Amino acid sequence: MWNLEAIVARAQVDFGAAGDPASLENAKARYLGKSGELTALLKTLGTLPADERKSAGAAINAAKERLEQALDARRAELAGEKLAARLAEEALDVTLPARGRTRGGVHPVMRTWQRIETIFQSIGFDIADGPEIETDWYNFTALNNPENHPARSMQDTFYVDMKDVDGKQLLLRTHTSPMQVRYARLHRPPIKVIAPGRTYRVDSDATHSPMFHQVEGLWIDEQVSFADLKGVYTDFLRRFFETDDLQVRFRPSYFPFTEPSAEIDMKFDSGPHKGRWLEISGSGQVHPDVVRNFGLDPERYIGFAFGSGLERLTMLRYGIDDLRLFFEGDLRFLKQFS
Ligand code: DAH
Repeated sequence: MWNLEAIVARAQVDFGAAGDPASLENAKARYLGKSGELTALLKTLGTLPADERKSAGAAINAAKERLEQALDARRAELAGEKLAARLAEEALDVTLPARGRTRGGVHPVMRTWQRIETIFQSIGFDIADGPEIETDWYNFTALNNPENHPARSMQDTFYVDMKDVDGKQLLLRTHTSPMQVRYARLHRPPIKVIAPGRTYRVDSDATHSPMFHQVEGLWIDEQVSFADLKGVYTDFLRRFFETDDLQVRFRPSYFPFTEPSAEIDMKFDSGPHKGRWLEISGSGQVHPDVVRNFGLDPERYIGFAFGSGLERLTMLRYGIDDLRLFFEGDLRFLKQFS
């Protein structure tokens, strides 16, 4: 009789090859549609002898059922594939780590501040802190910088709309040097102190900022000499830069509150700044008039002071070439230090 087995086998292959619902329905039509193969066979049933008709009909129906089953299975398969594809496409990776909270870091200038404190503390210096809004007397006059003296104009500053007891306008301190006077008037010798802090001047470019940081140093006793200044400061620089490969020189200079005064220069003998003398600090032997303003007898007490810029020390330590980077708050810059 008809080879129903072969038809079923062919149909199963065809259904399996259909890659999407539309081709599957087309394949179905070729077997079960109006002019499909099985339909055509059913139509010929009537031509068969009556005794064969029944079994032939049953065989065709059985074949038809198997095709329907194969069809359903393939439909389910295609639907499953479609769902899987959609899931893959719209995947949400819930295991992705959350953005989380980032940790803050210490600003590079603050790192310098902390290092300086640690180093000077280890050689017996006290650490003092004082007001950023100063009186004219502490900022200038007590430091031998009399009114109308031209040296004052080197430190133009910001004034506060408020007067002190002398009737002078308050100002933002132009240096940490007033801390020499404030500290010395409250302590008895030996006086050995550093005072790091913020300072202000009307200045703004690649190497100057209206707000910057200094550290003041002061050592007063009966026999503190320039040799001590040289020893202490050289040792500080070697520890700060973590190298003995540097030289220090004292270049004569002028500050009203010291006599003699010197600019401290340093030179690295290795590393990226090798070979160039770099100005690093002001310093000097404290002027007798200033010692008197400390409330001390300059015939008995003598010592040195220095004032260094923290930004400058930080730039040299980390190889930073523009001061403004410190104040822009750019995380790409700041993250490199945390
Ligand atoms: N106060 C000075 C300045 O800001 C720096 C300075 C120079 C401080 C000499 C000192 C010193 O203590 O002895 O330019």
